[in-house]
Amino acid sequence: MKLSTKIQEMNYSPIRKFNSYAAAASEQGKKIYKLNIGQPDIITPTVFFEAIRNFDEKVLEYGESIGNIELREGIVKYFKNVGVECTKDELIITNGGSEALLFIFLALLNEGDEALMAEPFYSNYHSLIKAAGGSIAPIPTIAEEGYAYASKEKLEAALTDKTKVMCVVNPSNPTGTLLTEEEVRTVIDFAIEHDLWLVVDEVYREFIYDGQEMSSFAHYPEIEDRLIVVDSISKRFASCGARIGYIMTKNEELHGNIMKLAQSKLCCPTLEQVGAAALYGLEANYFDETREEYKRRRDAICEELSKIEGAVFRKPGGAFYVMVKLPVDNAEDFLMFLLTEFDVDGETIMYAPASGFYQTEGCGINEVRLAYVLKEEDLRRAMQILKLGIEAYNKKKANK
Ligand SMILES: Cc1ncc(COP(=O)(O)O)c(C=O)c1O
Repeated sequence: MKLSTKIQEMNYSPIRKFNSYAAAASEQGKKIYKLNIGQPDIITPTVFFEAIRNFDEKVLEYGESIGNIELREGIVKYFKNVGVECTKDELIITNGGSEALLFIFLALLNEGDEALMAEPFYSNYHSLIKAAGGSIAPIPTIAEEGYAYASKEKLEAALTDKTKVMCVVNPSNPTGTLLTEEEVRTVIDFAIEHDLWLVVDEVYREFIYDGQEMSSFAHYPEIEDRLIVVDSISKRFASCGARIGYIMTKNEELHGNIMKLAQSKLCCPTLEQVGAAALYGLEANYFDETREEYKRRRDAICEELSKIEGAVFRKPGGAFYVMVKLPVDNAEDFLMFLLTEFDVDGETIMYAPASGFYQTEGCGINEVRLAYVLKEEDLRRAMQILKLGIEAYNKKKANK
């Protein structure tokens, strides 16, 4: 019996693949500061739970495949507040942004098609594009240039005759890079010139710092027929477990084709959509506090990282991740050491090794992604443990 080669060639998530070692360490009583996954510790707004508690239908029925109408109306209002005009019929509710991406790639790609994307990229893009029969054409970037990629030269160098889609995550997971308005314009002109679909993932839209302005791709009417926006409540409202995301496209033909996929899975969970609709009723200033909190955390983690000799990183402009090159030979090997052999007073840390965010062989070997999703004092402590861990690991290597 044989399995699908396409799926066999997929990788396990670099964010989750060390979980069993972490579980074993926890069982032995070690405390682990988990910076590997973008799971915020911010409290989910109570309106989410209240709306579900107040749900008083007698039968929990299937919902519409396009999604709950109150939720879609709430999203239309939210978009209006961020300067984006859309109607409830241009949306499709999905099981998280993850399913939105899967449906989009299934609807756009044929076997062998390529999606252009800055590397390092959020690793699930690799899996989901592969599942749809395509592959990523990576645009190489480097930490020293702040992972910048949106220049005509870089985009054209990565383009091939198989490129059909350009994917943008803005601000970026894993690098935290936020595009300038000029860079957004460059990507738009490039997509038009080469007749590409533009998949824009703005799930971290609210998390941008230092007074920077977010220029959404949905602000530009000249690309509305080629634009697909991916969004989610997971990070925006600290509601990762609700599994609610959505697609916004004004391209009716594409919308129709994605609806075929949405109908094949019937609908998203009814109760979570009721809760999500209540979240979209929150005042816009809800984000001010969380943005401030993440900014404090970003500043704290960067301050502590700058005390680690040999660590190379750039202060990120958005999202809640920082990519760092560590002074170790191999970030996966070092993580195994941290989880299985090392602790400081019973405590250790966990991160996502960055090689899984690259497709290019040999890249990201000594690089890691840290998610600053813990309280400031915990982040500071985690970075102190990291520093001591690097010293112990390198000492062990030197003695071999
Ligand atoms: C850039 C980006 N897009 C999409 C997702 C998917 O999020 P979810 O499926 O929880 O909505 C994530 C999750 O970390 C992400 O970082």
